[in-house]
Amino acid sequence: MARSVDLARDPAAVTLLGDAYVIWRDENGGVVAAPDRCPHREAPLSLGRLVGGHLECAYHGWRFGAGGHCVLVPSANEGVPVPPKAHLSTVHAAERYGLVWMCPGEPATGIPDIPYDADPAYRRLNVDVEQWQASVTRMTDNFLDISHFPFVHTGTFGRAQDTHVPKIELGPLEDGFFGYRYEVEVNNDALGASASGLAAKVLTRRMTTGFHLPFTVRSTIHYENGLDHILLLLSTPVDDLTSLFTFVVWRNDDFTVPTDEVLRFDKAIGAEDRRMLERVPGVLPLDATALVSVQADKASVEWRRRLVAMLEGAPLPVAAPAGTD
Ligand code: FES
Ligand SMILES: [Fe+2]
Repeated sequence: MARSVDLARDPAAVTLLGDAYVIWRDENGGVVAAPDRCPHREAPLSLGRLVGGHLECAYHGWRFGAGGHCVLVPSANEGVPVPPKAHLSTVHAAERYGLVWMCPGEPATGIPDIPYDADPAYRRLNVDVEQWQASVTRMTDNFLDISHFPFVHTGTFGRAQDTHVPKIELGPLEDGFFGYRYEVEVNNDALGASASGLAAKVLTRRMTTGFHLPFTVRSTIHYENGLDHILLLLSTPVDDLTSLFTFVVWRNDDFTVPTDEVLRFDKAIGAEDRRMLERVPGVLPLDATALVSVQADKASVEWRRRLVAMLEGAPLPVAAPAGTD
């Protein structure tokens, strides 16, 4: 996973599930992703540069274009065809919401549908991609969990006095997400007040939190003043214990609060989660009976059940449209 803007000038290197890939923008403006290994002498292609949308290997200058096609072998004499094996075996890559989405195999699910993205009443805000020393399973579990708010998020919105989680009723949410609806009282201090546009010291947020397999979590936050703040939390496995993290925000505000100011609040919340998650060792066991879970963990238990079913090839209970922009 990378941000679209990261591909403006150079190829980017990304590691997914332990394997290295290169991604670049081709001569037609599309995104190409392929193993980060030149078929000639295995130099990392991400060391190369872009020449007119062609990726030029840094070692002997072979060039690759749309679809990973090798378009030039500089050492070859005129008229000599490019060897068929010189073409790269690309993997699925698509751009959506300012991000590059990749899948090394056949996708078992699509990219989540976020209709707010096409709604002119909403603006979209992107942040950098961070690398966390945390397992993608622990991150997804955390983003589905609200019982940590009064303990982990006391520096932002968490209220130490509100520890009870109301009864969680799981069900389908809009746009193919699956999760629950709830109300939560939050502290609304300086950063939060700027993000919410409300001055009260404590606010009630109406929220939904749900997942889209494998590791995407969406939280929708509705404030009393009509402001909707939609958060897409995206965790990508680099390997078992390392993950990429980024989030995307959509808001129907009046577009006057500067982007940085809006994002500072959500970034501070993410940093609180990160601090905790980077101290929890190992991966989260997918077998739900391996750990003690209570009713507040219901969403995570169901997410793990469906993830395991997906990994075992069972038909998916959560549907979402696939496609590319
Ligand atoms: S290793 Fe890439 S061109 Fe030789
Ligand atoms: Fe959190």
